[in-house]
Amino acid sequence: MTAKPVVHLCEADVAEGLEEIVRQELRAKLGARVTLRRLPADQEQAGIVQFTYSGDVRALLGLKTAQAVYLVRRFAVPRPKALLGDAHFRAVLSMIALARSAQPDAYQSLYLSAAGSDSSVMTRLKRELAQRVNLPVAEAEGDLVIRVRPARATSREAGGWEVLVRLSPRPLATRAWRVCNFEGALNAAVAHAMALLTQPSAQDVFLNLACGSGSLLIERLAWGPARLAMGCDISAAALNCARQNLTASGFTAELWQCDARALPLASGSVDALCADLPFGHLVGSHAQNVALYPRILDEATRVARPGARFALITHEVRLTESLLGANCAWAVDRVLRVELGGLYPRIFVLRRAA
Ligand SMILES: C[S@@+](CC[C@H](N)C(=O)[O-])C[C@H]1O[C@@H](n2cnc3c(N)ncnc32)[C@H](O)[C@@H]1O
Repeated sequence: MTAKPVVHLCEADVAEGLEEIVRQELRAKLGARVTLRRLPADQEQAGIVQFTYSGDVRALLGLKTAQAVYLVRRFAVPRPKALLGDAHFRAVLSMIALARSAQPDAYQSLYLSAAGSDSSVMTRLKRELAQRVNLPVAEAEGDLVIRVRPARATSREAGGWEVLVRLSPRPLATRAWRVCNFEGALNAAVAHAMALLTQPSAQDVFLNLACGSGSLLIERLAWGPARLAMGCDISAAALNCARQNLTASGFTAELWQCDARALPLASGSVDALCADLPFGHLVGSHAQNVALYPRILDEATRVARPGARFALITHEVRLTESLLGANCAWAVDRVLRVELGGLYPRIFVLRRAA
């Protein structure tokens, strides 16, 4: 008789608005080992994807569109104090052991996140856990992250408490390639989702307009090879940052300093484009964008071949909508409203008309 595989309940933190893309990545990468959990509509929470998974948890570390992945366990207890009881405490320790098994030497400190994390019960819980796993308690930003929260009652289960243990010492969206930090850099998991939205192909000539530190370019190449991958930005400092990140990523791409309003590219030569244009907050201003966006869009129209895909993220929603309304060269396939650091920019997914 073969042993039943262990099934882990997991939860992915996701940029709000990208839940479906994360579900698609889970299905594509992990296939039958994953079962997506759909909660009743009134209990679905934006920014969260729950699933069960049977298999080596290290495979979950390869997810590129999730911000972070946690192991989850629900305890049928009325108060968190009961988590200190022997059986529950050992169950939490075994979650921690499983999470740490993926990267055993990577953890330096334990951080417990919970409403009332300074209460006497939570303080005891984090101290006792830290002692048992032989790590110091971090008061902020530890790497072994444990969350404790009340569980929602469902039709099958009464409330109780849930413990979540993050599966990696840093969020998955914190990429090892980011050796140069750039103000206004795009979250790497969102950049990866945008690369997927271009329906990438190994035959693509790919262009990252206004590439900044290269997040979209590198995440496109993290998906897989392209015939040619290029990034352009007007700023030498941004390109210097992109060059460092690209080198750290191990991928190859062409980087040029040039104005996205006048690209050194033949008409109809690009198959897929991504851009994270200045939002007008940290980078640029609204007045500058009113002049800049139409010219960049016109130039993208010129270099894109018929049928080319273009994923564009911006917080200049009305401006972009009005430009696209007046520009019949691009059909709008989808518009995704995503949450990014408290802002709600849109990802416009465009297709170049024939
Ligand atoms: C929001 S940042 C892009 C950040 C990038 N996605 C990253 O992850 O680092 C916008 C970029 O647009 C560039 N930019 C602004 N005007 C430009 C233009 N006319 N041509 C090319 N790049 C331009 C800026 O230098 C800046 O790097």
